Amino acid sequence: MARYPLLVTGSLLWLSGLVATVVNSTIYTIGGTAYYWTPKYTPGYQNADNNYSVYILKTSNSFLRALDLSKPVDFGAEFSDTADVISELPFEIPHVKLGAVWADQNKIYYWGGELEVEPVYMNGAFQNKTREWPDPMKYYTYDLSQPKGSGEWQTVSISMARGSDVLTVSPSFGSYTYSAEARKAFYLGGMFRRNELNNTDGSNATRAGIEPYYVGSMVVYDAVQNVWDNDTIATAMELNDVVDGAMVYVAGVGEKGILVRIGGIYTNGDLLSFDTVYVYDIAANIWHRQPTTSKTNIFPESRWGGFCAGAIAASDKTSFTIYIYGGYAHGQKKGTWALTMPYFQWIPVGSSGEPELGHSSTTCQVVGGTLVMVRGRGVWIHRGDTNGGSYFYDMTNLTWSFKYQPSEYQVPKTISDVIGGNGQGHATITGPTDDKSFAEGLGRLFTAAAANATRSTGSGSTGYSKGGSSNSTGAIAGGVVGGVAGLAIIWAGIWVLMGTHKGPPAPNYQEGWLARQEIDSVPIQIPVHELDNTVVQGGTHQ
Ligand SMILES: *[C@@H]1O[C@H](CO)[C@@H](O)[C@H](O)[C@H]1NC(C)=O
Ligand SMILES: *[C@@H]1O[C@H](CO)[C@@H](O)[C@H](O)[C@H]1NC(C)=O
Ligand SMILES: *[C@@H]1O[C@H](CO)[C@@H](O)[C@H](O)[C@H]1NC(C)=O
Ligand SMILES: *[C@@H]1O[C@H](CO)[C@@H](O)[C@H](O)[C@H]1NC(C)=O
Ligand SMILES: *[C@@H]1O[C@H](CO)[C@@H](O)[C@H](O)[C@H]1NC(C)=O
Ligand SMILES: *[C@@H]1O[C@H](CO)[C@@H](O)[C@H](O)[C@H]1NC(C)=O
Ligand SMILES: *[C@@H]1O[C@H](CO)[C@@H](O)[C@H](O)[C@H]1NC(C)=O
Ligand SMILES: *[C@@H]1O[C@H](CO)[C@@H](O)[C@H](O)[C@H]1NC(C)=O
Repeated sequence: MARYPLLVTGSLLWLSGLVATVVNSTIYTIGGTAYYWTPKYTPGYQNADNNYSVYILKTSNSFLRALDLSKPVDFGAEFSDTADVISELPFEIPHVKLGAVWADQNKIYYWGGELEVEPVYMNGAFQNKTREWPDPMKYYTYDLSQPKGSGEWQTVSISMARGSDVLTVSPSFGSYTYSAEARKAFYLGGMFRRNELNNTDGSNATRAGIEPYYVGSMVVYDAVQNVWDNDTIATAMELNDVVDGAMVYVAGVGEKGILVRIGGIYTNGDLLSFDTVYVYDIAANIWHRQPTTSKTNIFPESRWGGFCAGAIAASDKTSFTIYIYGGYAHGQKKGTWALTMPYFQWIPVGSSGEPELGHSSTTCQVVGGTLVMVRGRGVWIHRGDTNGGSYFYDMTNLTWSFKYQPSEYQVPKTISDVIGGNGQGHATITGPTDDKSFAEGLGRLFTAAAANATRSTGSGSTGYSKGGSSNSTGAIAGGVVGGVAGLAIIWAGIWVLMGTHKGPPAPNYQEGWLARQEIDSVPIQIPVHELDNTVVQGGTHQ
């Protein structure tokens, strides 16, 4: 591990704004911002809020990490911040946050995002070289069959000769996901930002920034054709001006699966209510605006800031459930909610064992019957998170834990009490209350999904596998639906304090005001206080 000198002390507090994907029960994460703890003041560090004897250093995260969940994991007992590193992104590849990552046929694809202007620390020093903005006409791939620690990254140019559209901006804060059924990746909306960064040693860092603006399109990568499209999203105009929500892939509904887009924030600072979600039928290329209900009329609080979301199917596909956690709105959110489909009702579910400080800028994936929240950050920047900061939500028993045990999903009683049936499915509710148009639209997809599953079972074939199996492209087969946290990313850093531990040296740059003001995960016009602000200047948190 000598290649990763910055990591060896275990001083990483948080890793936020990353992106993640899953292949064969292994979750891969990359990008974003790392927060390191240091006991000693050196120029360039920031004071932690409400503890002025703690100093924080932010750097870009350049590591591709792999969390293997084919076997039990106990982060309460053991966690190493370096053990899961499988590759370091070369300096020449822009170190970005809030772009997109997905895997297709054993290959990681990394595209989009905005340059993380925090310093790049590599090979034992801050790199004082000019850093290029991410080029939207390039993407980066990493073949997962390469040996850990010595794999190479490839830079690939998007070729218009093959029929790809011209991509003009590298967006961040959009929502991304990948459909294994379609072998397509999606990046919806987002914004374009270029923060300013000067090196203080006299060398160039990056050129001056520009005013950010919003991107009203969905980029679709077709892995079969190797073509990139820039699609307009005119059928759901209100999706043109939103950022920082979650988009979840739900396999098995429709011919190529559906995407469900939830939450986030409009350009004018208004939040999207959870009383509506947007459903994209991949095969038909149609967006549906879908109202949701809540029995108590209380909905999950509107939020943004990289909340966790992942989807799972009952084994007979009579119901599909999206679980959500965390994000940001008046502080990091706590509490877990389930959206059961096709009823489209929000149900508050158990949340015991959840992170004490809540979580935002995180990422989530579904493996078997577990929603896995990887990294992100909590409210107090100087505290980090104990025990590695990865949390496992048992979607059957409705509890969070540091421990992961491979499991199969059963519909929890809390949900089957609402939709009928039992742990194996057999839901009796086939659509939302009072929604006459549903049966003719989205309802058909859900009805067909259940009918397909029943047919497979009836013919004696298993039809689908339940639980943790998944195919090579990252879809989790059958009963499990690949889930993805929309935007932001990763996971609670651990705070293993080692007596003699030393932080990395001071960065040699000065950020522009924009970067200082910025939060990990929130667009500029946000009316409430922004995360980084809060953190550095000692805002109050509940
Ligand atoms: C501040 O952080 C230091 C170092 O972790 C710790 O020893 C001290 O107890 C903290 N003080 C407060 C008031 O939290
Ligand atoms: C897609 O095209 C639209 C309209 O031309 C443009 O505004 C947008 O920036 C493009 N998206 C990307 C990612 O380049
Ligand atoms: C970058 O600049 C700092 C401050 O001048 C210096 O300490 C450091 O060694 C430089 N890094 C490299 C890789 O040259
Ligand atoms: C640094 O920036 C200046 C002004 O933009 C430019 O002329 C010069 O070529 C840059 N130097 C390097 C090493 O990129
Ligand atoms: C039903 O299953 C078949 C075979 O797996 C698949 O080709 C078809 O797309 C499915 N139909 C729907 C509506 O899901
Ligand atoms: C979930 O609950 C069941 C029944 O109480 C128990 O057998 C099972 O071990 C629990 N699963 C986990 C992962 O704790
Ligand atoms: C995933 O599993 C498939 C099927 O067993 C295998 O071919 C592939 O190499 C695996 N991929 C990775 C990255 O482990
Ligand atoms: C970066 O350098 C430029 C050119 O010297 C200057 O105008 C700008 O104010 C500097 N920005 C910061 C944040 O120091």
